[in-house]
Parts: sequence; structure tokens; C-alpha cells
Amino acid sequence: MLLLRTCSGITGIRTLVTLAHQTHVSISTVHLYYTIRHYSANACLLPLCQLHGAAVITVEGIGSTKTRIHPVQERIAKAHGSQCGFCTPGMVMSMYALLRNKPQPTMEDITQALAGNLCRCTGYRPIVDGCRTFCQVQSSETNCCQANGVGNCCLNGANNPQLFDKDDFLPLDPTQELIFPPELIVSHHMLFHTTRGYLVWCQHFSEMGLICMANPQTLTFCGERMTWVSPTSLEELVQLKTSNPKAPLVMGNTNIGPDMRFKGVQHPLIISPTRVTELFEVTQTPQGVCLGAGCSLSEVRSLLEKLVPQLPEEKTELFKALIQQLGNLGSQQIRNVASLGGNIMSAYPNSDLNPILAAGNSKVSVISSEVPLNQDFFVSFGKTILKPEEILVSVFIPFSRKGEFVRAFRQAPRKESSFATVTTGMRVFFSEGSRVVQDISIYYGGMGPTTVSAAKTCAAIVARPWDDETLSRAYDILLDELALPPSAPGGKVEFRRSLTLSFLFKFNLEVLQKLREMVGLSREIQRSLHFKYHVSKGQSNQDPVGRPIMHRSAISQATGEAVYCDDIPKTDGELFLALVTSSRAHAKITGLDVSEALQLPGVVDVITSKDIPGKKVRSMFGYHEELLAESKVSCIGQMVCAVVADTRAHAKRGAAAVKISYEDLPDPVFTIEEAVEKSSFFEPLRMIERGNVTEAFKSVDQVYEGEMRMGGQEHFYMETQSMLVVPVGEETEFNVYVSTQWPTLTQDAVAETLDIPSNRVTCHVKRIGGAFGGKVTKTSILASITSVAAWKTNHAVRCVLERGEDMLITGGRHPILGKYKVGFMNDGRIVAADIQYFTNAGNTVDESVLVVEKILLHMDNTYNIPNLRGRAAACRTNLPSNTAFRGFGVPQSIMVVENMVNDVAVVLGRPPDQVREINMYKGLSVTHYKFEFSPENMLRCWEECKAKSDYSARRRAIDQFNQQSRWKKRGMSLIPIKYGIAFAESFLNQAAALVHIYKDGSVLVNHGGTEMGQGIHTKIQQVASRELHIPPSKIYISETSTNTVPNTCPSAASFGTDANGMAVKNACQTLYQRLEPLRQKDPKGSWESWVRAAFFEKISLSATGFHRGPDLYMDWDKMEGQPYAYYTFGACCCEVELDCLTGDYRVRTDIVVDIGRSLNPSVDIGQIEGAFMQGLGLYTLEELKFSPSGLLYTRGPSQYKIPAVCDMPLQFNVYLLSDSHNPHAIYSSKGIGEPVLFLGSSVFFAIKDAVAAARSESGLVGPFSLDSPATPERACLACASRFTQKIPDSKPGSFKPRALNI
Ligand SMILES: Cc1cc2nc3c(=O)[nH]c(=O)nc-3n(C[C@H](O)[C@H](O)[C@H](O)COP(=O)(O)OP(=O)(O)OC[C@H]3O[C@@H](n4cnc5c(N)ncnc54)[C@H](O)[C@@H]3O)c2cc1C
Ligand code: FES
Repeated sequence: MLLLRTCSGITGIRTLVTLAHQTHVSISTVHLYYTIRHYSANACLLPLCQLHGAAVITVEGIGSTKTRIHPVQERIAKAHGSQCGFCTPGMVMSMYALLRNKPQPTMEDITQALAGNLCRCTGYRPIVDGCRTFCQVQSSETNCCQANGVGNCCLNGANNPQLFDKDDFLPLDPTQELIFPPELIVSHHMLFHTTRGYLVWCQHFSEMGLICMANPQTLTFCGERMTWVSPTSLEELVQLKTSNPKAPLVMGNTNIGPDMRFKGVQHPLIISPTRVTELFEVTQTPQGVCLGAGCSLSEVRSLLEKLVPQLPEEKTELFKALIQQLGNLGSQQIRNVASLGGNIMSAYPNSDLNPILAAGNSKVSVISSEVPLNQDFFVSFGKTILKPEEILVSVFIPFSRKGEFVRAFRQAPRKESSFATVTTGMRVFFSEGSRVVQDISIYYGGMGPTTVSAAKTCAAIVARPWDDETLSRAYDILLDELALPPSAPGGKVEFRRSLTLSFLFKFNLEVLQKLREMVGLSREIQRSLHFKYHVSKGQSNQDPVGRPIMHRSAISQATGEAVYCDDIPKTDGELFLALVTSSRAHAKITGLDVSEALQLPGVVDVITSKDIPGKKVRSMFGYHEELLAESKVSCIGQMVCAVVADTRAHAKRGAAAVKISYEDLPDPVFTIEEAVEKSSFFEPLRMIERGNVTEAFKSVDQVYEGEMRMGGQEHFYMETQSMLVVPVGEETEFNVYVSTQWPTLTQDAVAETLDIPSNRVTCHVKRIGGAFGGKVTKTSILASITSVAAWKTNHAVRCVLERGEDMLITGGRHPILGKYKVGFMNDGRIVAADIQYFTNAGNTVDESVLVVEKILLHMDNTYNIPNLRGRAAACRTNLPSNTAFRGFGVPQSIMVVENMVNDVAVVLGRPPDQVREINMYKGLSVTHYKFEFSPENMLRCWEECKAKSDYSARRRAIDQFNQQSRWKKRGMSLIPIKYGIAFAESFLNQAAALVHIYKDGSVLVNHGGTEMGQGIHTKIQQVASRELHIPPSKIYISETSTNTVPNTCPSAASFGTDANGMAVKNACQTLYQRLEPLRQKDPKGSWESWVRAAFFEKISLSATGFHRGPDLYMDWDKMEGQPYAYYTFGACCCEVELDCLTGDYRVRTDIVVDIGRSLNPSVDIGQIEGAFMQGLGLYTLEELKFSPSGLLYTRGPSQYKIPAVCDMPLQFNVYLLSDSHNPHAIYSSKGIGEPVLFLGSSVFFAIKDAVAAARSESGLVGPFSLDSPATPERACLACASRFTQKIPDSKPGSFKPRALNI
């Protein structure tokens, strides 16, 4: 499908390397009896050849701004569900596919449909809000808040009246939808059985040299290195497979595809049996159902769902367990294409289906025999007992019997769209009226190289009564039977072992319940999706400032028309650049052999450091970073050279053929501890102190010492690093189209690298598909390398990183180790604190010293600690260099402080919120860097959050709940924030603008800010509209470019709108004043008439604007300064319900934020929700893992989990503080991009609170350490249940850990 995107220019089929965001395609296939079903699929996994005979609908096909937009596109856009917009076509198509099958979906349908789509900007709430408008309010199935009895209905818009008006929406009229192309409907009863491709793409087949033969004959497509054959009968399939046993069968391509795409596996021949009818047959027998191996997992699920209500209950135990597993397996998009046979034959160690199918006594049929699916079937990793030439035809799933109970459980890093850490299928059979076990089978996934049977455990249970004695023996045997070595692949050894016990315990509870011997478990927090907003009021109707204006590109983003860097059409002779990176963490380069690469088809050149005509390093703030390593490498992933070729595929093949030889250097440094031991730091180290900390410790009642470790974070912007450098052809002029937050930095870098003046380089940024701090320094280096290739070859050169490369090369948020000593009085007052911060900066300094400074400047958070000392160091290690990330060190800094305050509360036995309150700044206050401020709004946020969340009553209810519930515990936290806005580096606090009025009255605004989803262009349009007194529709912002507004500052530090808004205001005021005489002359005239008159009177209709921001500074020698223009304040309350057996949890959130007078409440709320969810990911979910040799393991969405729809709080209430004014920013607003990210830590502290409740039942009281992120693994182990306590600790030093604790 991605080939289709490249060849056709249909950009809605977006090139994302992740599996979960590719759902830009809806495919219709002719089904048995000609029913047409629509399903969404991942573009990156769908082979083009497989589409023969299918109708493909892309986001462009359902609506456009030129014709008519589709209601789905309209509603997601108008509900403010599109920020950077990169994920939006995927969201639209997932929802569109759902509506084609079910025009009035339930909330459950919607969340299932969106489960496989990822968004890094919005926090999902507005997307779900837009989609929810398709639900029928009357339906009891909608699961809306009213249906759950939680008050005002979430579907009627009453809770968020100002954000969008659903009465404006186009109705959904299913009769107006695209019809299935009649020419594709054939007379055979066959799936995918059609005559020819739909739409224009057959053309591309011939352009690509593919041969396409029409049905009913065998279809054969021959590519450069691969042949694809699609037979039409089982007989032919058997023949083909017998003569080509090594050729894989490709059904859904969800196993074979990723191997080919991401691991470089090549198959010269692929057999696609999707037109072999026998593989799709479904039959029912008196013993069970027989499903064709080719049936998709979605089809299997819906078939079983249809059967369950038709059969007696006792027959459906296995079916129900399968349905449950299928609901959580992968995502809808995966299940729509992945086949039942493919899942079984892939023999994944953590397949969700194999354990339950095996436990349920299922069988598989190959051509001539039936084989039981049991422990003998799975022989090793990815292998079954079937011979390579054998074909799985069908799978027999038996009915269950009376007295038979079947259950499946799974625990995954993320609830949905994530392979399980451990998964299980369990079946027990009692003869009628007896509690003695007649038969039992238990299988686990995730506990070895293949699905494993707990046969010994089962043997110990069989023929015994199902009681505590039997079960307690069983736990011990299970622990022995499924032992894992401490360095087992997959890591998480203790957690995995404890999960095997927890699942057996859960099974026990359910069986007991079935045997009517036990009462039900506690009630979960209801999924209510209930939102409330309080937005600022009081603007006149004409004035757009303060109104929830939709993101100005939202509609184009929803229709797929919005252009991102890689959507720019290919120019003649354009080349593609692929990077070659170091495979060693610390080594001398002893040789670089590019000869083989240069021989490969399409390869044009290899760029090394020697080719750079100008500066070979990128300099910033006095630090230098080599563009391409010349003689030495200092991390795995460091760029060494780049291959330039005619296509992406050729460049990648060329890069793989480059050979680098190394001589390892001794003692690489990876962890913070190693760096501290070897004093491996980037200078300067920073320190700040107020009061006399050493003296103060002598007079306190108590002293406590603790530490907090926090992992890093990957930006995971949806659009990876992308750039296109085009030589203009004369006088060394270059146009650089680039996805960056700081065009001027890229311009300077390219000019210095090529040794040309900056006036020959123009950087253009149309929009950015997410950035979060990751597209500043790293982008400028990548653009410099790409520009060398363009300069040397004299061709346009494009470089777009794949997700894995991007994650490997570009670094992210700094991991941190915080150590603290705190002195406090018995009444809760903290008198002294001494905090040391160590960040893991990686192999180059980048912005790490600035990050360290910001860490120290925020270490007071909202607390007035009279004696406070902070020391911070950026550790130099042999890992990829870390960089700016939303919050710039603040989320790490405050996390340590809040953990310290929490510990103080635990030591004192007081509620943490009380200790927080006692220590907060009150009245006119002075920070530890001697800056005076008023904490009034900070305290108001705190109080309002307490009141809105009903904190005290809920706290009491939680304590009561915890007394009654053994395995589920609830926890709650209330966390404040004070966040400094603007740059401490004073020169960055400036902005410029250029505004043109054209003779027709239309206005073009240029400014230095870049649009990366944060809505800066929308807010600027509102500012210009207010100043020029014209509607926003007359104002356009085309791009950010260095030839219209020079010497810009980065869009960062939550300061973009503050600075650029003022510059645009300035330019617009100049223009408005110039028109004043004309208005006076013709008071009844119109904007257009005054503009025309101005032109004829030779009045300039173009003006620049400038904003000289505050003169901020920080004097580190004197330890004082004014590093911020003002503070944004907030508070957040979270409640979680934690399953102590698995670490799974559910969240409710209430946030109050002071953002002054919001310029645009919908944009600001979008920033708040998006930042909160990114923080939730940081503190509870996202884990970077490095191998012991320094290689990043987590290089894609299957290993690195960012929050998905399932992680959205079940209740998510956002309130903007009313009556707040800010004299320091435009129209009294406040910067909001970064501050709320830290409030995601409220989920962490609520989990910690729940864990504390669990620990206290095991007699464990007092402070305990819980590192961030508080993943299910960490939370479950910290609960110290009787199961986790059974797992013996692995002796440090007795094994080589699988991953580094960096
Ligand atoms: C993003 C993502 C998330 C996922 N999450 C989960 C999850 O949570 N739980 C889980 O269990 N799985 C998960 N999977 C795995 C997925 O379920 C399997 O990849 C899928 O079922 C394989 O089916 P397929 O039709 O796509 O196989 P293909 O990739 O087409 O083929 C896979 C293998 O099976 C062989 N094969 C296929 N059909 C036959 C046949 N009839 N006879 C003999 N050999 C055959 C092929 O030769 C090939 O070797 C996930 C996959 C992805 C990509
Ligand atoms: S709007 Fe979803 S990723 Fe940016």
C-alpha cells in the first residue's frame, strides 16, 4: 500500500512505520452471498498484490474540500480532534469503516475501532467526542454517561457547550456513500474473488513492471527481487507449496510483512492463498465448529459471537474465552486481516490464541490428517510440528461440556494493541455435582520460546477437590515448573513468574464463583467518558479571540489534503538518502568500505565527513557535535555516512551494504552510576542554594533520605524526521523543506556546513506532524547531512527517517536519578532539602546543560522550603544523545521533589495533600533564585481542584473500599504545578512578523512560529483578525520561511504564541493605523474599499512587526535571577483502581489550570489534555530499554508503548481557572504547551497510594521506592502480594541482565 502512496501521490495513505497508525484504508470485499463488508487495515502491512479485486477507499475518496467533506471528517475536525493532523486520516478511516458496517455504533464499537490508532497530540478525548456524535442517544448500548447514571448525558453536548455545536454537523446519510464497484462483483461464492483492481492503480502496476493476470487463472506478479503467486484452488496451492516448501503463505501478512519491512527478511517467492475457497469454509458439527484457517480473526470473533446466543450456555465456555482474547488481540485493523491459521502457524511465544485453543482441546486439519493442538504441536520459537510444505486447512474448536469452565487471561504493557507479557488459557472439568477435578489443562504464552503447558501443575490438581489445599500446592509446583532464568529473553522475569500465579489465582476465583462459593469482586470504576469544561466568557461575537475556533487546518488534515514534508511531490532526478549508523558504542573507526554499496542498482554516491565542504560540526551554545563520525564513534546509532540513491529502497539496500570496521575502545559508560563513578560529566555542573541547608538539618525534628529514578521518553512524533533539500541551480542557492521547530537553526546549520552565506538557504516549514522538542537540534544536523548530498550530487535529496532509525538516532527525554535528604518538623513543615540530580545526557551535550539548569530552577515546584540546595549534572555516556522534550527537564525535576514530599507525609503518617498544603508558597513569595511572585492563582487552582474532584469525600470512599477489597486497591493523589514560561536565555525572547494586505483585501501573515499541532497559526489568525477588525477567513498563513521572517527563535518553551502573537499584533497595528485616514475619509466604506484606496494613494500595505521580549537572566554565580516572564499554574487530582495481581489500573482525572484569559479554549484544552496524556505515558507506560552493549531495543511501536485510546481516563474533567489575568502575555493569556505534562505524574502518585494500601495488608508500612514509569510490572511487584513474594530474588552479579538500568 505504501508503494501505492509513493506512485499515486495519494498522501492520505501515510507512510508511518508503526503498525497502529496506518489505518488510512478501508477495503471492501465481496463476501459469501455477496454481502459487502468494509474493514480498515494498516497500509504499511497490506501488500499491494493482495488488493487485486478489492475496492480500496482512501481518506481522499470519502470527501474533500473541493467537493463535499464527509461527516466523519467534519466531526473529528470540528470537535477539535485534529492538532498536528498526522494521525487524522487514520482516525477518519477507522471510523468510516465502522460506520459503513454499522451506521449507529455504540461507544464500545467506537473505542474498539479506534484502539489501533495512535495520536501523540490530542489525548484522544476530542476524537472520541467527535465520533460519539454518531451514537444514538436513545440506545441503551451507547454506554454514555447517562446510560451509566453519572448525571448529565455526555452525548447532548451540555457539558461542553462552547467547544463545538453539533447542530451544525452534516447528517450521516448511508445512501450517499460510495457504492461497491459493480465490475468487482463476480458470480462465484468466493472471498476476494473478483476480476480486476479498482480505481487508477492498475496503471501503476504496469508502470512498476508488474504483470497482472486476470482471474480465474493464477495471478502472478513479478517484482525486482520477488515473485508473488496467488493460486485459485487447494490442489494448486498444495502443488506450489510442495515444490517451494520455503515460500511462505501470506494471508494477513502481519507476521511476514513486518519481518520483510523492518528486519530485511527476503522471500524470492510468496504464495498468497487468499483466493482458495477451502481455507475459508466454516462448518458446524455436533462436537463443535470447524473454521477455515484463512478466516480473519475479526471473522472468527463475529462468528463466535453469533453462535454463543444460539447455543446452550455450557457449550460456549471456550467460545466466550476466545471472544475475550480476540477482543484484546492486536487492534481491529490487525484482526481484520490476520488469519486464524497465520496466528497458529506463526507459533509466537506470546500468541493469545494458542494457549486457549490448546487448553480447549482444539485440533488443526492439514491436507490429509487431523493434529491435536497441544504441547507437542509447538516445538520451538516460531516452529510447529508441521512440515514446511504442509498447509493448515482448518481449525476445529470443540463445544464445552456441562461442568467445564474455560477462561483466558492476559496482561500486556498496554491494555490494547500490545502483545501480552503473559497470556494464558485454562480449562477445568468437574463431573456433575462434584468438586473433584476430572480434567484440567493450563497453557501459558510469554513464558518461554513457545506456548507452554503447565502439565505438572495440572497433574497435581487432577483427581483432587478444587480447594485451598490443592491450589496452594499447585502454586508451588507452577512456580518450579515455569521457572525462567534471570536473563531470559523478554526480561520482566519476576513479573512474568508472578503473573502465572496471579492468573491461576484469578482462575480459582472465577471457578469458585461458578461453583457458587464466592461473592463477586469489587465493582470497577464505570467507563463513563464524561467531560466538563469551563471556558472563559465575555467576548463580542465578532471578535474571535477567546473563542473555541477550530484549528485552521483541521478540515484539510481530516481530508488528507494537508501537506507534510514527505507529501511534497518528487521532483525530476530526486534522490533519497539513507543513513549508515554505528553498531558500536565506543570504538575507533578503522575502515569504511563503500565499494559494494556503490555497485548496487540505483546507488549514486556515499557521503562521508570528508565530503563536507564547510564546518564538519554543528555548534550550539558553544558546544560542538560532529555531523558524521570520522575516526571514532561514541554510541550505537551515531551517524557515520549516508547512501544516496534513486529510490528509498535502493538507498536502504546501499546503506545495508556499507561495511565499517572498528576497534573497540575500553570502558564504555552507559549508566548514571558508571558516569558518576568515573566523573564523566558535561561541564558546567550547576548548583543553587538558598538559606543554610547544612545548618538547618541540625535543628529539624526528623531527617529522611531517599532517591527516585525516572526513565527517559521517546518523542514519538507521528511524522518522523523529514527533509528535502533542493538545489536551485544557480549561485549555490538551496531550498530546504523541513519539519523543524526552528527553521533559522536549520538555515544556519546548512549554510555553515556548505560554507555558503545564510542568504542562499531558505528553509520552508509548512506544518510539522508533531515535534515535542525533538525537532530542533537533531533536525538541523540531519538537514546539514542531506544538504551535503544535494550539494555534491546537484540533485534534490530527500531524507525521511523510518521509525526505528528515528528512535535509534535522535534521542529523547533525559533519564534521571534524584537523591534527596530532607529535614522536617513533626507538624509537617519542610525546613531543609538537599537534592542531587544526575541526568543521562548521552554522547553529546546537545541542550543537556540547559536542561540541567531548568531542573534546578523548578526544584521548588510550589513549595517554600527555606533552606534548599540543588546540585545537577549532565552525565556523558555512550548512549545516543538526549535532547529537548516538552517540559525540558521540569517533569523530571518536580517528580523527585514530589516523591520527597510524599515520603515526608508517609514518615509522618499524614495525608500527602496536607503536607503539600503546609509547605506551599503563600502570600507574596520569593523563589530559591530570589524571584518575587504571587502564588494566589496557584492556591486557587489547588483549592478549586480539591473542590471539583470532591477530594475529601472520595478519599473517604477509597479508604472504605480498600478495607473491603483484597486484590483491588484504590489510590488517589492531588498534585500541583508552578511552571516558568519563556527562555532564561534572554536573546531567544524575541519574534518578528511580516504582514501583507493584498489589493482584494486578503491578508497574508508570516511569523517566526512553526505550526506543529499546538495551534499557533490558529491563534495568530485570531490576533490578526482582532487587530485588523476583519474576519479570520480573510487571513491566511501559508508557511514559516526564513526568507519572509529572518532570524527566528524556536517554537519552544511554551512561548511561541506569546512572542509571535505580539509581533503580529505589532505589524497589524501599524497597518491598521496606516488605513486610518482612509477610514476617516470614507467611514461607510468597507475593508476592501479602504485597502484599494490605500493602494491608489501609494500607502504601503505591507508591514513588519517585532516583539522584544522580557530581559530574562539567571546568574549562576550569584544564584539569582529572573529566568521566567511569569508562571502557569495548575493542579490535578487522579484516582486509580489497581488490580494488585496484574498491575492493571483505571483512572479518573480532574485538572484545573490557570492559563490567564485563554486565546482559544479549544486549542488550550487540547494542549492540556494532550500534555497530560503524554505525561501519563511518561510516568506509567513508556519504557526505553537498552541492551548491555548500549543498543536501543525499543525501536518501534511494538516494543515502545505510548498511550492509546484505552489509556484515556475513564472520566477526564478539565477546568480553566476563571478570572485570571496575566499582564505579561498577549491579551492576558498564558503559555500552556508544556506545563500540564507534569500533572500526568498524578496518576503515578495515585498508583503509589494504591500500592501502599496493598503493602500495608502484608504488614509493609513506611516509605518505599517505586521508580517511574510505574508500569503494571513495577506496580504489581511493589504490591508485594503473596504471589510476588513467592518469587525468589535473582542475586545481582549472578547473571547478565538483559537490559541496562540507565
Ligand atoms: C501490530 C500487531 C499486533 C499484534 N498483536 C497480537 C496480540 O496481541 N496477540 C497475538 O496473539 N498476536 C498478535 N499479533 C500477531 C498476529 O495475530 C499474527 O501475526 C497473525 O495472526 C498472523 O496471521 P497472518 O494471516 O497475518 O499471517 P501471515 O503473516 O500471512 O503468515 C504468517 C505465517 O503463517 C504461515 N501460514 C499462514 N497461513 C497458513 C496456513 N494456512 N498453513 C500453513 N502456514 C500458514 C505463513 O507461511 C507464515 O509463515 C500482532 C501482530 C501485529 C502486526
Ligand atoms: S493530531 Fe494526532 S498525532 Fe498529531
